[in-house]
Amino acid sequence: MKQPILNAYEIRNADYAVVHSESEVDFDQFIEALDIKNGEKVIDVGGGYGSIFIRLIQRQPQVSFEYDLLDGGLFQLKKGEEKISILLEKYDNPSTVRYLHQDALELNLQANHYDLVICKMFLHEIPQRYKKDLINNLFGIVKPGGRVIVWNPDLEENDYHFYTSVIKKKDELAGYESLVQNRHFLLNHDFCALMEEAGFTCVEKLLTFDYHLHTVNRLNEEFSGDKMKLQEWNGYIMQIAQQLDEQTRETLQIKSLDDDIYINFKRGVFLLEKPLV
Ligand SMILES: C[S@@+](CC[C@H](N)C(=O)[O-])C[C@H]1O[C@@H](n2cnc3c(N)ncnc32)[C@H](O)[C@@H]1O
Repeated sequence: MKQPILNAYEIRNADYAVVHSESEVDFDQFIEALDIKNGEKVIDVGGGYGSIFIRLIQRQPQVSFEYDLLDGGLFQLKKGEEKISILLEKYDNPSTVRYLHQDALELNLQANHYDLVICKMFLHEIPQRYKKDLINNLFGIVKPGGRVIVWNPDLEENDYHFYTSVIKKKDELAGYESLVQNRHFLLNHDFCALMEEAGFTCVEKLLTFDYHLHTVNRLNEEFSGDKMKLQEWNGYIMQIAQQLDEQTRETLQIKSLDDDIYINFKRGVFLLEKPLV
């Protein structure tokens, strides 16, 4: 009998700020864009170990709101709960935090409830065939007049195939079988079209960040220190980079140095609104 595959997020213990080279300046801008006000109801869907709440409370310790951290990985939620409990106490912040272990495709939540839904590096975790359902689910839980803020890989036709191949190879080498099977990245225009189809208006790109991918940052975080895996990934990247057109190669600033390959990808932050009527 075929064994069901393990959810990689029950073992993936990566610090995304390290593997994605996320800077505190990126978080400053993102948190400003969230613009969370006292008393708001907020949910972070696919929120992992609460990287957003952690940054938020450090920057705005006085803001008190209702925060739901929803994730399909119990391991991620437990990691989040440990970190967040310490910070709530440290900053004496009275926000209410709930840890919701749910599959985003089967949300058990109140309709029209949230002022703000956050999706950071999450939408691509859902297979293509369920994407529409997921986005309709998200639309259902936002209050009329509420908003969704998405932090996504910023992908256009020229770098889409290269980016998705690079990440898929990393997931294969890291043994994240569920990610290899499930992940489906969206081109920016497909993302906007899906959001508009679900009923969101004012789909607007607020920010673009640099995503400085350094392959060596994955060595300990994702390859358990296995240099052979890093070398195999690096070799694969340099091989497929040859298929890129000259302009894309220049834009991506691909550089190989010792054990590391650097690529300058982008992240996009989008704002979507649910109309009042
Ligand atoms: C790349 S991580 C991003 C985590 C977090 N948003 C961050 O950026 O720090 C993606 C998260 O989505 C969660 N996830 C994947 N599929 C899911 C699903 N169907 N329902 C709920 N969460 C899911 C994973 O467990 C993981 O924590």
